[in-house]
Amino acid sequence: MRMRNKYRKPTTLRCNAGTRCSFPVLVWSLVGCLLMLHLYSLVRHKDGVGGEIQTHMDHHHHLFRELEEVEEEDIQIPPPKGKRSPRAAKRRPKRPTTLIDEFLDESSQLRHVFFPDEKTAIHPMKDAMNDSFYYYPGRIWLDTDGNPIQAHGGGILYDEKSRKYYWYGEFKDGPTYRAHKKAAARVDIIGVGCYSSKDLWTWKHEGIVLAAEETDETHDLHKSNVLERPKVIYNEKTGKYVMWMHVDDANYTKASVGVAVSDSPTGPFDYLYSKRPHGFDSRDMTIFKDDDGVAYLIYSSEDNSELHVGPLNPDYLDMPHVMRKILVGQHREAPAVFKYQGTYYMITSGCTGWAPNEALAHASESILGTWETMGNPCIGGNKVFRQTTFFAQSTFVLPLPELPGSFIFVADRWNPADLRDSRYVWLPLTVGGAADQPLDYNFGFPLWSRVSIYWHKRWRLPYMRTENK
Ligand code: GAL
Repeated sequence: MRMRNKYRKPTTLRCNAGTRCSFPVLVWSLVGCLLMLHLYSLVRHKDGVGGEIQTHMDHHHHLFRELEEVEEEDIQIPPPKGKRSPRAAKRRPKRPTTLIDEFLDESSQLRHVFFPDEKTAIHPMKDAMNDSFYYYPGRIWLDTDGNPIQAHGGGILYDEKSRKYYWYGEFKDGPTYRAHKKAAARVDIIGVGCYSSKDLWTWKHEGIVLAAEETDETHDLHKSNVLERPKVIYNEKTGKYVMWMHVDDANYTKASVGVAVSDSPTGPFDYLYSKRPHGFDSRDMTIFKDDDGVAYLIYSSEDNSELHVGPLNPDYLDMPHVMRKILVGQHREAPAVFKYQGTYYMITSGCTGWAPNEALAHASESILGTWETMGNPCIGGNKVFRQTTFFAQSTFVLPLPELPGSFIFVADRWNPADLRDSRYVWLPLTVGGAADQPLDYNFGFPLWSRVSIYWHKRWRLPYMRTENK
């Protein structure tokens, strides 16, 4: 794959032959050239499908380009209104000076930049032809009934049976408040929203597939508690759809995972139980189903200072006592795991509540580790955009089977002033080129491929055209 922008590193092969080698090494490389190429193809194609994927990638080469355009952003912070005397300036609290301050300041004039109003909403039933299939990160996104999609902290399941995508997430269409002065902003549990789509753009609301408990205060899902980051996977052996989620009390001290199950992707899901996985506290979490059908739970633990990963039982309803600690001491959360050509990748965020922070990409040869941190995957926008994951937080990475090596990065732009009005930031994510760090080499080849998430004000999947609709 060719470089598309200044941030992109050359491909592994070119890097090795062109930039890093001194003359004697080059001679040796030539002598061992055939052997190396053979080795390289073995390493890259070890999962047995590499050859096929490579052909697809060449075929789709021009399509990748569209996703990998680098778009800059130039947001100006408006100057303070009127001139103030130095004295008055001293007395008054300092006005916010950074874009992040502006983002978090409820009275900021700039909030429309991050949270544009209904006039610009993505309306799949109205935006016929010209605007069809375009994603506008941060804009209100309406379902087929014309209501804003409520699927925050979500995950997407592709259901082979119905050939539809199902998007599950926190249904937060209620008032935002604080349980007490020092508590984080919250919305009472309403339940898990579910939306279905064939094209990943037009979403039909399938209802609340797991609802809050209204009366029983001892129930995990009593509305006064917390239900976050629901993820659903399908179990081929049992024919059941299994949901895992973060279940907590209002103060985040329960720190557990909850499990629910259904015969249908559109529910209703039966809530089974909650537990502390492997006996540890568990907050932000995700589920990853591997190609061999083994599913894994990945969760932030030890007060978010590290992540834990462990397999689920074959029925996906519980887990054995097998667990590895990963990214220890790195304080990461919001994990989103995906796999490409036999390598596991993960995007995480830092731990700053609803406020955005810098994403990191990680890679590992085995899902149980050792995971290595490769740096910030965000490209384009501007520096502040890249340092704040485009003012959003990871929740899921969706593979695009039509474009191997391409994924949709699914993130939440939280609006702590009004959580129901939190937005979705969907952006193209690609794997390719050498990672920024750690620059370890194996047989002279960089060990990890770079993960890149490209900022776009507006974009669409290159194979989506109105005539497909
Ligand atoms: C974030 C977390 C969210 C939610 C929030 C509450 O760190 O990723 O899922 O728990 O804190 O403040």
